[in-house]
Amino acid sequence: MKQGWKYAAAIGLMAVSFGAAHAQDGDDALIKRGEYVARLSDCIACHTALHGQPYAGGLEIKSPIGTIYSTNITPDPKYGIGKYTLQEFTVALRKGIRKDGATVYPAMPYPEFARLSDDDIRAMYAYFMHGVKPVPRPDKAPDISWPMSMRWPLAMWRAMFVPNVTPGADTSISDPLASRGEYLVNGPGHCGECHTPRGFGMQEKALTAKGGEVYLSGGAPIDNWIAPSLRSNSDTGLGRWSEEDIYQFLKSGRIDHSAVFGGMADVVAYSTQHWTDDDLRATAHYLKTLPAVTEGHNLAPGDNGDTAALLAKGAPGNPGAKVYLDNCAICHMNDGTGVNRMFPPLAGNPVVITDNATSLVNVVAFGGVLPPTNSAPSAVAMPGFKDHLSDQQMADVVNFMRKAWNNNAPGKVTASDIQKLRTTGNPVSTSGWNTSSQGWMAYHPQPYGAGWTFSPQTHTGVDDAQ
Ligand code: HEC
Ligand code: HEC
Ligand code: HEC
Repeated sequence: MKQGWKYAAAIGLMAVSFGAAHAQDGDDALIKRGEYVARLSDCIACHTALHGQPYAGGLEIKSPIGTIYSTNITPDPKYGIGKYTLQEFTVALRKGIRKDGATVYPAMPYPEFARLSDDDIRAMYAYFMHGVKPVPRPDKAPDISWPMSMRWPLAMWRAMFVPNVTPGADTSISDPLASRGEYLVNGPGHCGECHTPRGFGMQEKALTAKGGEVYLSGGAPIDNWIAPSLRSNSDTGLGRWSEEDIYQFLKSGRIDHSAVFGGMADVVAYSTQHWTDDDLRATAHYLKTLPAVTEGHNLAPGDNGDTAALLAKGAPGNPGAKVYLDNCAICHMNDGTGVNRMFPPLAGNPVVITDNATSLVNVVAFGGVLPPTNSAPSAVAMPGFKDHLSDQQMADVVNFMRKAWNNNAPGKVTASDIQKLRTTGNPVSTSGWNTSSQGWMAYHPQPYGAGWTFSPQTHTGVDDAQ
């Protein structure tokens, strides 16, 4: 009885604080579904400041021209979106246009959210209006000076680069599992924001598989992490991953041969670990339908024994191998195979062999934390070596890993590349990669490119507040 009373009191409190409108069972189911769609879309990761209140905004997003802040999307009528109608909420999500008519910076992934179905948007609206606690926190104005602070070029950008799309699932895909996966990846999941390369206007070059080989073929550095290709290439893509691997990775952040880090750690921690098994399996299934794309080089990963033998002898005459032996082999092993689900293997690892070495240098310099997830609760850390190794030693060990264990990756990283990344945050340029950001300045810099930072301090995935 006591329990029942407490329950009733709690409901009473909720009704007071969230407004009286929500009572019927049907509404509750809709709000629950909306909460799930918001998880699929990862609204929380961007709209919550570090240690801030959920959805109250204020996350700092740095750009080459200044800093913008995510906004308060709690139902507070004065500071949040409490006065948005369903129609206005829909336009904000699909077109990036606020209630007051201004266009938002495309840090908000509205080009993908345009795919959200009417039902999903309606459910999310119910959740944001009745399931989220209103927080009276005022928005922070962007720290961008005139003339770059003018918002009209953003509308121009939208007109040029954001195509009109048909919301909802793509009915031309006949396999229902692949069709659901396609919707999740290209709609709410907005995976292409990071995994698809951008064109001269910083627009994604393809929003769906119909855009051809560039689609999900690997993105630009974000906070100095490279989102690798999700195509079926066997060296730098998901060719060697089974559907089960992809499912496990998105659910737990770790599988035998890989571990999540960088921006993807946030995606797993705040979003995909909360997806239903059905949705994760649909996503894995869809990604495996994407054919491999043409690539310039061919890798034959796996240990041929030479590297392990060199290390066993103490790595004479090879400074990079020596650094590896002294600092890294204890966790990642002489044969580069690591330890299952604890220390990722480096032999054949896409992070190590992909054209652009930025992520690789970044993880060696700054380390990383494998976030705890519901299904793999321990956090495991890789120490950063920037205070321990010189720029030359870091370059040596990176170049060593790129050739060791048959990795056979292109290009060479120099000590000055490392120094630049360490001190100014400039991505490393190696062969096949060009971080030029000209051209798009005319239309406002767009996110997810060189010089943009999505609060890397949250990239541990271990901020309790979220
Ligand atoms: C990758 C980061 C990111 C994600 C994910 C994201 N947003 Fe945003 N959103 C932003 C930023 C940044 C702004 C403010 C942009 C500006 O000031 O121009 C914004 C603006 C908005 C606005 C206009 C706000 C206002 O105050 O009038 C709404 C509404 C909104 N987002 C809702 C959502 C919802 C709902 C989701 C999940 C479905 C979501 N956002 C996911 C970054 C994001
Ligand atoms: C904020 C940027 C961002 C978004 C959004 C994002 N990813 Fe990632 N993803 C990354 C980065 C960076 C990596 C590389 C780090 C790693 O492997 O953990 C990565 C790695 C991966 C990997 C491992 C690939 C490999 O070869 O190691 C998979 C699988 C993946 N992402 C799937 C997805 C899916 C599915 C989505 C959408 C639901 C998604 N990602 C959304 C940034 C992102
Ligand atoms: C204490 C054990 C430990 C040591 C020592 C260590 N690492 Fe790591 N390393 C890890 C862990 C744990 C991760 C996964 C981190 C993550 O996912 O954020 C990792 C990740 C990596 C990755 C990214 C691979 C991937 O798929 O996530 C690279 C590359 C790497 N380490 C290289 C090195 C190098 C080079 C050294 C020596 C200079 C080194 N590590 C020393 C534990 C270690």
